[in-house]
Formats: sequence, C-alpha cells, structure tokens
Amino acid sequence: MTKSKQGAAAAPLVAHATTSDSFMQDVIAGLSATPKRIAPKYFYDSVGSRLFEDITRTPEYYPTRSEHEILRMQAGAMVQHFPTGAALVEFGSGACIKVRFLLDAARKLKAYVPVDIAGDFLNAEAATLRRHYPNLSILPVVADFMKPFALPDAVADLPKIGFFPGSTIGNFEPHEAAAFLRHAGSILGQGAVMIVGVDLIKDEAKLNAAYNDAAGITGKFNMNLLRRINRELGGNFKLDGFEHHAYYNRDRRRIEMHLASRARQTVTVGGSRFSFRAGETIHTENSYKYSRQSFAALARGAGWTVLDRWTDAERNFAVCALALDPLS
Ligand code: AVJ
Repeated sequence: MTKSKQGAAAAPLVAHATTSDSFMQDVIAGLSATPKRIAPKYFYDSVGSRLFEDITRTPEYYPTRSEHEILRMQAGAMVQHFPTGAALVEFGSGACIKVRFLLDAARKLKAYVPVDIAGDFLNAEAATLRRHYPNLSILPVVADFMKPFALPDAVADLPKIGFFPGSTIGNFEPHEAAAFLRHAGSILGQGAVMIVGVDLIKDEAKLNAAYNDAAGITGKFNMNLLRRINRELGGNFKLDGFEHHAYYNRDRRRIEMHLASRARQTVTVGGSRFSFRAGETIHTENSYKYSRQSFAALARGAGWTVLDRWTDAERNFAVCALALDPLS
C-alpha cells in the first residue's frame, strides 16, 4: 500500500492479501448476511490508502499524531527492553516509517525483518532502508502476517522483538486480537518482547469527532468501499443512496463505522440482488479502544505480560512493551 512520508499511516496490511475473486466472494457473503457487513481490509485500494493518509492529517484524527509523539519521545526507553543483537520483526510494515524511531534509537540491533503482503512495495522500502541503515541486515518477508510464516534463517538464533504499531490491533475482535498475539508469540519464540500501539478509551466526543471529521474525509474513505465495489465488481450502488455513520459503542468499547441506506432500495453486485430497508446499514469497521487494564488482561490471556507502557501528553494513545511469558 502506498503511504506518504508524513502520513506514516498504519493501515491493516492484509489489504492486498486478496484477489478480486475473494473480494467478490466476501462482498456477496457479507451483503447476504444479517446484519450486512464488509471487512475493513477492503478499504485499502490505492484510492482508499490515500484517503487514509488524508484522515491522519485531519485535526480530529489524533491516533497517528499521538503515536508519533510517543515514539519520538520514548523510543530511547523502548529500546532499553531490547536485548543486544536482537532482530526486530514488524507485522505489516507498510512504508516502514514508524519503525525508524526504533531503528534510530536501537544501536545494537542486528536485523530488521519487515513482514508485509505487498511484495513489490516491501522490497522497494527495504532497499531504501538499506541505504539509511547500512550496518543493519534488512530481511523482508513477503507474507500475510495473520497466517503462519517462517522467519529468515539468518535470525533463527537471535532474540526477537515484535512491532505492531498503529492500533491495527483495534480492528480485530478482542478474541482475534488475543489469537494474533499468541500467533506472534509462537513466531517470535521464547524470550520475545513486543511493542504494540493501542488506542485508548477516552472522552466520547473526542472519539466520535476522530471518525466524523468536519472535512468529511472519513466519510469519503468509508464510501470509497461502494465505489470500489462498483468499479471492481460491477456493482450498481448509487452513492447518494448511502451515508457515512460512525459512532462510539460504549458497551463494546469500539467505534463502529457503517454505510447506511437513505431509503428502501435494491442493489446488484455480481448478478446477485440485495435489498436494503431505509436506514439499514453495512457494517464496515470496528475500531476497539482499550484501557490500561483491559489491554493488559487481553495480553495476559494471550501469554504476554505488560513490561512497560507509554502515553502521549493528552493520554490519547498507548504504546506497550510486552514480554512473552515463559512456556506460554
Ligand atoms: C488503521 C485501523 C487504525 O481504526 O482508527 C481511521 C482506520 N478508520 N478512520 C482506525 C480508520 C476510520 C484506523 N486503523
């Protein structure tokens, strides 16, 4: 996926994992389900990736800026938890922007292993990083980080550090987030440390504003899913027939994004017809928010203990250092 230098966006990196075949299958299945839903990974075609970068520059969308502040201020403290001669493995590395804070601070790292599904992009980013960090082995792995994958042989005997920034973990259901952390632990191995970015529960007005920016960029980002279905799957969604809804669900501690039908209508995709009631929605994203306690409990249930935790000055966002429990 494309990301600008300033944007440093952390979009879910399963974005390009799928062929248009499975896009078609997933859309048909999701529109056939009750309630209707489509997975957020489908936001990130090239238009959607650019819109996400634009979101990160809106005044209301604090997560990217807050996480950058934390990484800038605390990278030195984070790398205190890195054993000498370790390999840093990033799950879904994108443009490899945020990791530079850690690479700059961690003088004793042996290797950086960016893992991403977008192979061409990954190899180009790796080449750039090699010029900037000539003493570090840059060993990209093209893989869907949600599935089992092998680390390069060259890092087999090194201690491992995982990196999963951007609150991408918030897109997972809590049980999926726990499964991901367990999976990461099995890939990284005994003695592993993991640095994870998590968005925090906060004032609801601030949460709601972050997903309802005044310039309407988040709305465009959400609506781009319908454009994409029309473009790639020959759908006939009328764009003025739907609207962007995003709100904090207090009980489930998550932002929900939906595309709401403004009227009763029928839409055709891939030869199948889907009826919408007025007000009926397609659920397009959850973005879970955590407290110190709720994230520590999630991590603990997945075999990790919180070693350290840093927040920005406004306490919007947290970056946590986790240690893999022995024999977990
Ligand atoms: C990329 C999943 C972290 O949940 O805040 C931003 C995606 N959706 N605005 C988030 C997103 C709407 C973002 N993540």
